[in-house]
Amino acid sequence: MFRQRSVTLRDGRRALIRRAEAHDARAVLDHVNAVAAEGIYLMTERLDLTPKEERAVFRRADGVSMLYLVAVVDGRIVGTATFARGRPSKSRHTASLGLALRRDTRGVGLGTAMMEAGTAWARSAGVRKLTLGVFATNRPALRLYRRLGLLPEGRLRGQVVLRGRFVDEILMARWLGQPPVARRAKRSRAKLARHKY
Ligand SMILES: CC(C)(COP(=O)(O)OP(=O)(O)OC[C@H]1O[C@@H](n2cnc3c(N)ncnc32)[C@H](O)[C@@H]1OP(=O)(O)O)[C@@H](O)C(=O)NCCC(=O)NCCS
Repeated sequence: MFRQRSVTLRDGRRALIRRAEAHDARAVLDHVNAVAAEGIYLMTERLDLTPKEERAVFRRADGVSMLYLVAVVDGRIVGTATFARGRPSKSRHTASLGLALRRDTRGVGLGTAMMEAGTAWARSAGVRKLTLGVFATNRPALRLYRRLGLLPEGRLRGQVVLRGRFVDEILMARWLGQPPVARRAKRSRAKLARHKY
C-alpha cells in the first residue's frame, strides 16, 4: 500500500510523489533515457521499450512485488524510483533500488524524499533489506545513501567503463530493523561504517 505525498523542495518547488500510472509510460521512458544518456550514473544505457511494454512493467509493479514511483513537478516527470523485491522466495525479503532524477531537480532534496517514500513502503510490505549498486564516482548518490543509512557491503572492481576509465561499483544495503545474526552483523556493520570509499 502506497500513499502518494507532496513535498516542498529546497528551491520552493512542490513535487508530487506517486505510483507510475499507465498514462506516464511515454514520459517515464523519455525521462529514464535522458538520465541514461548522461552516461555516468546508470547501468541502463537505453530503455528500448514501447509505451505499451512500459505499461506492462507498471502493471507488474503492483505495489507488492515492486513499487514504481514517479515525481512530478509542474506537471512534468522529473524523477523515478523503483523498489523491486527479489522474485525467488529465498530473496523475497530484499528489494533492489533504482533512482534517477532529472538534472534540474537534483540537489534540492527530491532524492531524499523519494527514498524515504519508498523505504516506508518497503517496511510496510515486509521487506527486510534494501540493496543497490552505485558507481564509485557518483559522489552525490553515495552521500545520499550514506545519509539514509545504507552501508557498503562490497565492491566490484572496474565493473564499468565510464568515459574511458574503469570505475568500481559499490554494493550498498540497509537492513530495515534488526539484521539477522545480530552480534556478528553489528561488528561487521561498525567496520563497514568506518570504511572509506
Ligand atoms: C543521486 C541522486 C538520486 C541524488 O538525489 P538528490 O535529490 O540530487 O540528492 P541531494 O542532492 O539532495 O543529496 C545528495 C548529497 O550529495 C551532495 N553532493 C551534491 N553534489 C556533490 C558532489 N559533486 N560531490 C560530493 N557531494 C555532492 C549534496 O550536498 C547532498 O549531501 P547532503 O544532503 O548531505 O548535503 C540524483 O542526484 C540523481 O538522480 N542523479 C543522477 C542519477 C543517479 O545518479 N542515480 C543514482 C544511481 S545509483
